[in-house]
Amino acid sequence: MGQLLDEAQADAEAAHDAYTAGRPRGPITGLACLDRELGGWLQPGLHILHSNSGTGKTALGWQAVTTARHPAVFVSCEMGALELLRRLTARATNTYLGRLKSGELPPAAARQLYERGVASAPHAYLVDATLAYASPDYLLEVASLAKGQGADFLLVLDSLHSWVEMLPDERASEYEAINEGLASLRLLANQLVCPVLVIAERNRSAMKDGGINAGAGSRRIEFGSESVLSLDRKGKPGPTGSVTVEMVLDKNRHGASGRTITVIFDGATQRFTEVDNG
Ligand SMILES: Nc1ncnc2c1ncn2[C@@H]1O[C@H](COP(=O)(O)OP(=O)(O)OP(=O)(O)O)[C@@H](O)[C@H]1O
Ligand SMILES: [Mg+2]
Repeated sequence: MGQLLDEAQADAEAAHDAYTAGRPRGPITGLACLDRELGGWLQPGLHILHSNSGTGKTALGWQAVTTARHPAVFVSCEMGALELLRRLTARATNTYLGRLKSGELPPAAARQLYERGVASAPHAYLVDATLAYASPDYLLEVASLAKGQGADFLLVLDSLHSWVEMLPDERASEYEAINEGLASLRLLANQLVCPVLVIAERNRSAMKDGGINAGAGSRRIEFGSESVLSLDRKGKPGPTGSVTVEMVLDKNRHGASGRTITVIFDGATQRFTEVDNG
């Protein structure tokens, strides 16, 4: 224990510096109420995000990476890079996503919007892992380069299930592949002392109601993580695809669990915003 004292002091100094400067201690989601519930920041380790399909997991993870004020990497195993750039541009420039796809914009105007989108996220890196399997070693290398010498870094993986599906070892069952994937992500989080937000698919029986055991394929999803965040739509979307989403921290190693946080997800601009959660 005594050998840990210097490390504990350095940790206390970093925490106190952040506290007195009024800034978060490390990476955040950007949704203040959620960050508060998480103990003020996304602490190092794995954080699981699950929901029914189409609720906004990708949008939330991508928003966290592209609004970060420190290096952050988004590993996309489902959505191609260009669609993610469109989604970033929609949010950053307040342009309906549909307008970026319909062809109604003169190309020069579209380019200007995309340039503003890119400029809005100077610390974000995108790994397009839809084109080839991104091995744990590759992710560690990319993440280390992106992180550089700074203290704060966030990695988002979208999604665990799509990622392990691309594992070159065809002999592994889904259960083995998920557990192996989680173990290598945890190692990466430990080595870089950073949070890794892992987007996960729900199993069929939990599709509607979510809950702590909703991650599909292995109990290691919830047991080995710092937090488990569940997203559920409430009601039908309005004309621009704006819908109320309830978030529940089913598991939270750094604060209370089970509280509902209400947010709005606007599909047209791909933006999550908070409502007054009291
Ligand atoms: N042009 C648009 N206008 C309005 N809403 C849109 C538009 N394009 C996409 N959306 C909405 O954005 C949402 C997609 O969010 P997102 O892809 O982040 O969900 P997800 O939970 O990651 O889904 P999946 O399980 O498929 O990965 C959908 O509800 C979709 O209807
Ligand atoms: Mg998605």
